[in-house]
Amino acid sequence: MAPLEKSPFPPDSGFDFVGIKSLHDDIYPAIDVSKTANLQQPGKVVLITGAGRGIGRSMAIQYARANVATIIICARTTSELDEVESAVQKANASVRVRKEALSVTDGAAVKDLARRVGEEEGCLDILINNAGLSRPWEPIGDTDPEDYWQVLEVNLKGPLLLLHAFLPLLVKTAETHNSHVNVINVTSIGAVTVVPGGSSYALAKLALQRMSEFVGLEYGGKGVNVVGMHPGAVVTKLANEIKEIKDYLTDTPELCGGFVVWLSSQERGWLNGRYVSATWDVDALEGMKEDIVECDKLKVKLIV
Ligand SMILES: NC(=O)c1ccc[n+]([C@@H]2O[C@H](COP(=O)([O-])OP(=O)(O)OC[C@H]3O[C@@H](n4cnc5c(N)ncnc54)[C@H](OP(=O)(O)O)[C@@H]3O)[C@@H](O)[C@H]2O)c1
Repeated sequence: MAPLEKSPFPPDSGFDFVGIKSLHDDIYPAIDVSKTANLQQPGKVVLITGAGRGIGRSMAIQYARANVATIIICARTTSELDEVESAVQKANASVRVRKEALSVTDGAAVKDLARRVGEEEGCLDILINNAGLSRPWEPIGDTDPEDYWQVLEVNLKGPLLLLHAFLPLLVKTAETHNSHVNVINVTSIGAVTVVPGGSSYALAKLALQRMSEFVGLEYGGKGVNVVGMHPGAVVTKLANEIKEIKDYLTDTPELCGGFVVWLSSQERGWLNGRYVSATWDVDALEGMKEDIVECDKLKVKLIV
């Protein structure tokens, strides 16, 4: 894609936070484990929801390339989980794949999964709340409230259930390994922009972004590094269903896969509780660390 001259979003969306020339639409050496050896994460156990296709699928493949020990892939469609398992094993045959067919809105199933992961894996290093749902955009008065609420159930209640079930294991893992663990909540630039018709999705993602800040505050001192992350604008089943954004879907799924591997590759407590975008150049972002921390940037606040 030709480099952008100007952000298509307002400045407070953070679209070009690192500078318009420091945006990416595809994986690049600093986040590509085949080019940057210290992104390798042997031994780690990773759980990704919504890993049956799209962005979650790409994250699973990039973690396989980063040589993690086990990837737990969750979604409802078993045929898609089977396909991702094959793709992961093609990327790295030594990675163990656990397929878990469940809905993230099913509290009992999520709780049972956490119990089994605790008993059978003994740890969890990375939790990625990626499963998501959107609906065609409509003004609030034209929506079916049940459909509207379903978007909040999947995008907000789902991550809440996962966090509630897995935080004890995450904290225990950080303590036992004397290291950080990561929670990556996939939010969206839609969390920080207001576009007519998109309210159910935007509200869910905004609340998840704020929930990330709470988790950072409550669990940061226990070794849990959490971010809310915009994964880029990627052609996927979910994105294809929103006709208003079709022209903006210019990022590859590999970009986000590489970005999450970079995020968890080192302790980056300075990002705890904040919003990040997979499109931001990671070296440019690191270069802004002091300013981000001193001015407490990348959080949802009132302009006063
Ligand atoms: N694509 C973009 O441009 C974009 C931009 C910003 C944010 N995002 C976010 O990125 C994440 C991934 O979306 P995507 O674009 O990759 O969409 P996608 O290709 O449609 O994938 C969505 C995944 O979520 C799973 N899922 C949906 N409902 C579920 C439920 N109730 N329980 C368990 N799994 C469920 C789906 O599997 P099953 O249907 O089989 O369960 C699928 O694996 C979402 O959180 C989305 O909001 C995407």
